[in-house]
Amino acid sequence: MTLKKEIEFNNIVNDILKNKEFIALKYEIHHGISRLDHSLNVAKVTYQTCKKLKIKNYEEITRAALLHDFFKNDEVADKAFLNHPGKALKNAQENFNLTPKQENIIAAHMFPMSKVMPTNIGSWVVSSADKFVALYECAKFKAPIKVGATLIFIFNLCFIQR
Ligand SMILES: [Fe+2]
Ligand SMILES: [Fe+2]
Repeated sequence: MTLKKEIEFNNIVNDILKNKEFIALKYEIHHGISRLDHSLNVAKVTYQTCKKLKIKNYEEITRAALLHDFFKNDEVADKAFLNHPGKALKNAQENFNLTPKQENIIAAHMFPMSKVMPTNIGSWVVSSADKFVALYECAKFKAPIKVGATLIFIFNLCFIQR
């Protein structure tokens, strides 16, 4: 990322990164790294994709990307894989003002595993960026590689069933 883009990215997400509840994601393990780092990776890929595709509301989408996994492990002990987007949305709503598009981006980021359909271009970008980043992280940090394999398996299964 160029310095100019890095400065713009930081300005877009600055207040979120200062939020105490959000900073706590630093201590949650996700794909072998912290959930804070995973969320930042997804937000950066989203920001750059939006810029490449010349999507006008890239700020709105980038902020939602950063908030897409805003949950702690003990908040979604049961079926975390399916239930965490709902919890992330609730936490994001409690801490920040969200637009309807941002709410859909968070709720639908696990599509096609989630029941919520993406309804705007930002949801498609974040959902794709999340899968791309998750696979990269699983491969790089090795330990939870099974998560990556399972993700691809379920992803394929869902598409075959539809
Ligand atoms: Fe997620
Ligand atoms: Fe994620």
